[in-house]
Amino acid sequence: MEETYQKMKAKLSQVVPDFELRYKAELAHQINQLKKEKNAVILGHNYMEPALFHSIPDFVGDSLELSRQAAKTNNEIIIFCGVRFMAETAKILNPTKTVLVPAEKAGCSLAASITAQDVRNLRQQFPGVPVVTYINTYADVKAECDICCTSGNAAAVVKSFGSDTVIFLPDEYLASNVAKETGKHIIFPTRLPLANSPDLDYQLIGWHGRCEVHEKFTVEDITNIRRQFPDVVILAHPECSPVVTSASDFSGSTSAMIKYVEQTTAPHYLLLTECSMGDNIMAANPGKEMLRLCSIRCPHMNEITLEDTLKALQYIRYVVDVPEDIRLRAYKSVQRMLEFSN
Ligand code: 13P
Ligand code: SF4
Repeated sequence: MEETYQKMKAKLSQVVPDFELRYKAELAHQINQLKKEKNAVILGHNYMEPALFHSIPDFVGDSLELSRQAAKTNNEIIIFCGVRFMAETAKILNPTKTVLVPAEKAGCSLAASITAQDVRNLRQQFPGVPVVTYINTYADVKAECDICCTSGNAAAVVKSFGSDTVIFLPDEYLASNVAKETGKHIIFPTRLPLANSPDLDYQLIGWHGRCEVHEKFTVEDITNIRRQFPDVVILAHPECSPVVTSASDFSGSTSAMIKYVEQTTAPHYLLLTECSMGDNIMAANPGKEMLRLCSIRCPHMNEITLEDTLKALQYIRYVVDVPEDIRLRAYKSVQRMLEFSN
């Protein structure tokens, strides 16, 4: 336990108060022991809170990187410290393993914004048009699409079809950012009935889902911050609106943002994304100045705690299952994405 505490202190003393570190080191120590006994691997998304992020995961990363790890692990149990759609993706890719998510709900506003029936309806409305679905969706939605994508490869996946028109679901802002990057026009059929606009020149058909975290950032935030800190470098996740990504200096997946900070030397950085990630980067890069102006946490990622991860291992809960017929169809979409970005 002392060794775990010292390791965590070396990384986290500027970010987590000492009394909290001692308490969390005790939990991390128990988890790491039990993890070995039960032959479990822990995957931690970049949004996990700093004490968890820097103590128990065997692998950390963005959705794409963690999917790859899930696909190739030999451990009997995969504990996904992230949200449910991510754990489902692990089960889709590695079905003989027991996949656990430490919190029962751990939802996502994007995944909740669309159903499998919605995708079937769009296919009827736009026959023959390929469907790309963001990985932030549930397995039954993935099962209805042609290929998945993540924030790290969305534009490249859309371009790869070489098709005039592509349906891109469900994130309205990610789709708009992809439209901007690929030079495509975008429409949202649920907001704009096609019958009323027969001449509309569309090439990307979007949906009305939004990330409840990233939709909160505004251009006014950026203007205010640049006024106070003219030398700040601003990084925005592509789930932010296109006006926000345009006003930022860099936009990319959570891991792309981390790498950008690691590989550059700016006087100050500001991340427009879930705020734990700024703390995680600070802890890993003590020389880098991160502006701490963000207080927006994802309520779903926030449900994943060290306490519940320990319980997940002790009681083998909460098991994530995907019905086999859905899994097989969803597997094709996810696997196609992994092959595409190899
Ligand atoms: P990344 O794939 O970039 O890690 O994003 C996942 C996510 O949920 C962002 O809100
Ligand atoms: Fe979903 Fe947004 Fe939370 Fe990511 S940050 S898990 S997109 S609600």
